[in-house]
Amino acid sequence: MRMYVVKDPLYEQFKIEPFVQHNFKIISIEHKTFPDGEEYIRFCNEVEKGTYTVILRGFPEQNANIFRGILIVDTLKDLGIEDIILVWPYLPYARQDKRFLPGEAISATTLVKTFFLLGVSKLITVDVHNENAFKQFGSSVLNVTTERLWADYIASKYHRDEVAIIAPDRGRESFVRKVSDYAGVEYYVFEKRRDPKTGKILGHSPIDQESIKTAINYIKCFIVLDDIIATGGTIANVAKWLRGEGFKGKIAVYGTHGLFLEDAANRLLLSGVDEMATTDTVSNPFVRDELSVSRLIVSKILEMMGDKNGKFE
Ligand code: R5P
Repeated sequence: MRMYVVKDPLYEQFKIEPFVQHNFKIISIEHKTFPDGEEYIRFCNEVEKGTYTVILRGFPEQNANIFRGILIVDTLKDLGIEDIILVWPYLPYARQDKRFLPGEAISATTLVKTFFLLGVSKLITVDVHNENAFKQFGSSVLNVTTERLWADYIASKYHRDEVAIIAPDRGRESFVRKVSDYAGVEYYVFEKRRDPKTGKILGHSPIDQESIKTAINYIKCFIVLDDIIATGGTIANVAKWLRGEGFKGKIAVYGTHGLFLEDAANRLLLSGVDEMATTDTVSNPFVRDELSVSRLIVSKILEMMGDKNGKFE
């Protein structure tokens, strides 16, 4: 069966090479935005039968990305393509994954439902904020996780005894535990305390204060690892706590999805952070080539298609 890949033309930073190496044929689309902001796409070549992987940009301009995705997928369907795998490395709206207040839209599920209604057969995403929120879709939604990628990156840069990883909140604990197991390094967990009514963060500190205070004496680098770096507020709190306790070593901030909103990079630097690195799910100045998620996504597709040799015809 022939495999094709269609990349959102605005998702420049995403690496397509691993798809080409596995014999996916690239399909180009022309894109423009009309003066009033409306989206236009056109498939430049004839659309032949096969399985199509559509890779969409998640951020910035989420709403325009979503509509461009709708145009791409629906046009493929209209041109007779039955099998479409949607790849959304950074899934927009994923944090609105439940009804926090009565009557709220559960945007994450509405978005996914919309694409299944259009006829997408699978949706692949990366380090989605809360995997459980998509359980209702069963194996149609696949979450690729980057624990190994981070573990390899950390192992290639640091000696295992001089580095420790920090989960900035309990939601990241299991992810960070896996990364630290793979890399063979220590980890610590911070906890955010919120006002139950307003959701406002009231405090942010380590769960086991004594252990981390001891670690400050011998660890040379703390890596704070999160799924999303948005305003940087969460991680800045962790960095400030470490500096406040007298930590003089390096603080690195690693995140899967680097949105860097509202001057987040400066905020992090001012809080005592020395280095930042992210994967390529979202374009930003801190994307590292070694952390590209493309290979992971190709492997997931090959595994899903039951391909034995890792190549299509
Ligand atoms: C929240 O639970 C997420 O895992 C991230 O910690 C959060 O989205 C980061 O946001 P910000 O950078 O604005 O603190």
